[in-house]
Amino acid sequence: MKELRDGYGRRLNYLRISVTDRCNYRCLYCMPSEGVKCLSHAEILRYEDIKFLCRVFRGLGVEKFRFTGGEPLVRRGLVSFMKELREEMPDVKMAMTTNASLLGSCARELAEARIDSLNVSLDTLDAEKFAKVTRVGSIDAVFEGISAAKAAGIKNIKLNAVLIRGFNDGEVPALLSFARREGLLLRLIEFMPLQESIWKKDAFIVGRDLLAALPEGAAWEKSGRCGGSDGPAEYYVNRKTGDKIGIIAAVSNHFCKSCNRLRVSAEGKLRTCLFNPQETPLKEVIRRRDERLLREVIVAAAAEKPRCWDVVNNGDIKMSGIGG
Ligand code: GTP
Ligand code: 5AD
Ligand code: SF4
Repeated sequence: MKELRDGYGRRLNYLRISVTDRCNYRCLYCMPSEGVKCLSHAEILRYEDIKFLCRVFRGLGVEKFRFTGGEPLVRRGLVSFMKELREEMPDVKMAMTTNASLLGSCARELAEARIDSLNVSLDTLDAEKFAKVTRVGSIDAVFEGISAAKAAGIKNIKLNAVLIRGFNDGEVPALLSFARREGLLLRLIEFMPLQESIWKKDAFIVGRDLLAALPEGAAWEKSGRCGGSDGPAEYYVNRKTGDKIGIIAAVSNHFCKSCNRLRVSAEGKLRTCLFNPQETPLKEVIRRRDERLLREVIVAAAAEKPRCWDVVNNGDIKMSGIGG
């Protein structure tokens, strides 16, 4: 099988596919209050397009597809699509990042698609704060979604909490207990400055402070990059309790050196780095079903992946559009 490599020799074997730019939430740190302009149905890739794209990436050695959004589950038919993809690609890793609010009704089908991992965004356990941070969400739907996923037998569920000073930084012990009780792996995420209008310096907590503030601080030991991926998280195990936690310090301690990722937006634009606004449109070539040309375009764009996020022009990035 072929391999996709960039100009720095990094092997790119992980593709994040945003299937929609829409979301049923309006998280404070992700979107401005007025929301964002949504793409029309005609503009976004159809499932047949995504399948073709997956085939070509698979042929280039991609081993993992993570479906993101917006909120991926607001797009109808996604789970059926994943089942079809699974039939065609029994060995590929399939994952999803979701706010879990719509998981209740589709967890069983996701398990049938043999999804390998599910990352659930949950920043707080307090119903009022949850309503505040999501602007519109109800936390009960998320709890139901998580329960449904567990009941359906989905393994490897992680909790993503973006830590914001003065908002949820006091909740780490509670989040840890919740994760332990539910059998989930908690990850604390540095608040990334993606949109100048939203990010505030005072609200940022650096990863090493997140680690230092963990309960029983001295008992946490680095456990390497476990948790099933070489992603941005560094994992720690508590010597006394056996608890595990991940810290995603994508701002202060980026993992660019070992980054294996590419992204495709809902409208079929290829991004080689989360922080690089430069995109290569693929939709037209995908719709022509020109496999050879699509391969060439991808290989050429991948070769230009920037070495690191500090060398890219960090414009205003809409997290909801690119799926994190
Ligand atoms: P796995 O490693 O597959 O479990 O996924 P993940 O942890 O990378 O993905 P997830 O969608 O759960 O994202 C968690 C956090 O990591 C989010 O805040 C993402 O924005 C961030 N993240 C994911 N990929 C990248 C990346 O390529 N670069 C940077 N800087 N941050 C990333
Ligand atoms: N900084 C860090 N993480 C973010 N996410 C969304 N916006 C930000 C940000 N500004 C996270 C979500 C979700 C993942 C896809 O990205 O909480 O877990
Ligand atoms: Fe919140 Fe995720 Fe939706 Fe953004 S895409 S508003 S972070 S749930």
